[in-house]
Amino acid sequence: MARPIHIVEVGPRDGLQNDPANLSVAQKLDFIARLEAAGVTRMESGSFVSPKAVPKMAESPAVFAGLDRSKRTQHIALALNETGVRRAIEAKADEINFVLVAGEGFGRKNQGMSPQESADMLAKCAPLVHEAGIPLSATISVAFGDPYDGDVDVGVVGNLAAQAQRAGIAELALGDTIGAATPWDVRARIDRVRMEAPDVTLRMHFHDTRGAALANVFAAVEAGIDIIDASCGGLGGCPFAPGATGNVATEDVVWMLERAGYSTGIDLGRMIDTAKWLEGVLGHRVSSSLSRAGVFPRG
Ligand code: COA
Ligand code: ZN
Repeated sequence: MARPIHIVEVGPRDGLQNDPANLSVAQKLDFIARLEAAGVTRMESGSFVSPKAVPKMAESPAVFAGLDRSKRTQHIALALNETGVRRAIEAKADEINFVLVAGEGFGRKNQGMSPQESADMLAKCAPLVHEAGIPLSATISVAFGDPYDGDVDVGVVGNLAAQAQRAGIAELALGDTIGAATPWDVRARIDRVRMEAPDVTLRMHFHDTRGAALANVFAAVEAGIDIIDASCGGLGGCPFAPGATGNVATEDVVWMLERAGYSTGIDLGRMIDTAKWLEGVLGHRVSSSLSRAGVFPRG
């Protein structure tokens, strides 16, 4: 049987948080429903952060209130502090993903925290999430490089991973927020994190800012990772990471993996149709290759 690779669709959060377009709550819910129809079963559906910091996510409570809960989708809420965690619990998130930060410069700009302060915040917030009975995961942002400080020491990433494990998270993503990773770094960081946090499941989060994202997915899958974040159309970016572009595109990852014999559970044709629909809603082209080139071989 084909080895399954699970895709976590991050378009409704990472994808939309930095796009110039302003989608209504109804349009966001339509996007989420189309992703579900394409086979997505786990997605970041919004973030509970300061509306001053990220205005595009200000309506996440309304998005969560409008979700169709009859579907089996696991809707993830992103949070960076206690207020965010409490708001995400209130919104009945199916999972909370907490953001740790591996770089001082980005940490200050993005969330007003140093790497250690972000780990302390997770330790403080984790019991709230556990008490609420909600699965807790975390992402280490700028785990491969910081837009302000440059290289990030692999030891910092390993140390944050160990603290996250102690806080009781089930799954940890290494986030390449600014597209600085190479496939060889991916391998090295996975090896290090497995040593420091052997009990957590690993997930990878790549941006394609410098064109290496698909190669990095390959390296991760070869290293045994079977959960990958991706965004429909390749939308995405962080308002606090200058020049950072979109996530690796879901349809490009799905095509590459399925052609290689892995199973993702995603209907590629529907995902491409959703990316094309997005172009109309956003009023601009999306960056994925498959939405331009089409599927090969043609079905
Ligand atoms: N949701 C909504 N409002 C929040 C909030 C949250 N999670 N956390 C804090 N606030 C509000 C406070 O109530 C306060 O409001 P006021 O000015 O009206 O009194 C204000 O934000 C400042 O609060 P403070 O605790 O001092 O936070 P801060 O200014 O140090 O900002 C964060 C910290 C984390 C709230 C902010 O940096 C943030 O939201 N960053 C998000 C970045 C992001 O989403 N990046 C992309 C994903 S990684
Ligand atoms: Zn991201």
